[in-house]
Amino acid sequence: MKILLLGSGGREHTLAWKLSQSKKLTKLYVAQGNAGTAQIAENIDISPNDFEKIETFIIENQIEMLIVGPEEPLVKGIRNYLQKNKELHHLIMIAPDKNGAELEGSKDFAKEFMKKNSIPTAKYKTFTKDNYQEAVTYIKNHSLPIVLKADGLAAGKGVIIPTDYITAESTLRTMLLENQFGEASKKVVIEEFLAGIELSVFILTDGKNYILLPEAKDYKRIGEGDTGLNTGGMGAISPVPFANHTFLEKVEKQIILPTLEGLRNENIDYQGFIFFGLIDVKGEPYVIEYNVRMGDPETEVVIPRIENDLVEIFEAVGNRTLDKIELKINPKTATTIMLVAGGYPEQYEKGKEMTGWENLKNVIPFHAGTTQKEGKIITNGGRVLAITALGNDLEDALEKSKNGADKIKFDSKYFRKDIGYEFL
Ligand code: AMP
Ligand code: GLY
Repeated sequence: MKILLLGSGGREHTLAWKLSQSKKLTKLYVAQGNAGTAQIAENIDISPNDFEKIETFIIENQIEMLIVGPEEPLVKGIRNYLQKNKELHHLIMIAPDKNGAELEGSKDFAKEFMKKNSIPTAKYKTFTKDNYQEAVTYIKNHSLPIVLKADGLAAGKGVIIPTDYITAESTLRTMLLENQFGEASKKVVIEEFLAGIELSVFILTDGKNYILLPEAKDYKRIGEGDTGLNTGGMGAISPVPFANHTFLEKVEKQIILPTLEGLRNENIDYQGFIFFGLIDVKGEPYVIEYNVRMGDPETEVVIPRIENDLVEIFEAVGNRTLDKIELKINPKTATTIMLVAGGYPEQYEKGKEMTGWENLKNVIPFHAGTTQKEGKIITNGGRVLAITALGNDLEDALEKSKNGADKIKFDSKYFRKDIGYEFL
């Protein structure tokens, strides 16, 4: 099987690492990849959003399977684009189509979908420039804190949670009237604040059947004790201690099954991952958001716990035979700690040489923002390296991850030392 994987973060290095262990793999390309994927696959310099070049590459290299890591090409309709080409009829795509990707591409679509399908989520209303005054009144009559969300993709920055009315109104103004997020904030979803503990649940579906993957919890804030600015994710753990059988059964019954049924009712033939961003409010699961791809850094703890051949699983998606797959999950705990560049998620520098690789023990280093230059590995992003470890329990895994995080050196390296803290 010749495979093309799109993306260049820690998620993609993890997927590439797992795919490269398959006996079925003959060749793996990653576009554009990083210094980590370069060690196990061939990086190619094509943007995941350049559909024309991807199409040509797939044909010229007889690619049989395409896996899309990030959301942007999905929301822009890469599946629909490639499906138009008759030559690519047999291409297996781990990628929902444009309509399916709206679950992530439009918060308004996702909220309406949940309402229609009685899926538990925060109460909301959507506003545009045209009913701006109504939105102001809605805020004034709403309890605090209040959640404002840009409708479209905003690189993880589109959610603001003001705790006073003045900030809420000024946020609304910058989003709707001053186009803070461009197209993405032409619509704004205003919703109630849910207090609880968050976790992420993932499924892979072939449009008919689905498999439930291990759940994970990520740590989004830059500072210890969950303080400071939001990031792409500073670390993750799997399993999540409070996600017991009873809770996950509720997630399956109240959220996963109605979501799949809702997709069928909309005639959306969904083949790919669904990431349910959930919050546990006093034992009841609510959906905070859908993503139409795997999470990053959640992938770095979910995938290493899967013992099956990943190529076989993805083939079953293409053949709609996921019901034949018996998922084997490693009962160990996986943790990952993200090393980031000092200053991230604000201004930070790239191009710092990374050393200490030979001192790593009992960890899997997944590259997030790295590249190669003159035979050296250098930093190439805000999130640089995810140090994953498997342990007999959370403490054991974290100890290994932290040890690895200490060993890698680069100028102004920072990482959170408290990943998983609330469960220790
Ligand atoms: P999102 O970009 O949708 O993942 O939202 C970013 C973060 O905002 C989430 O991970 C939550 O921590 C928070 N958030 C979003 N919606 C709500 C809500 N209704 N209640 C509480 N927190 C929320
Ligand atoms: N870690 C959150 C995300 O991938 O969206």
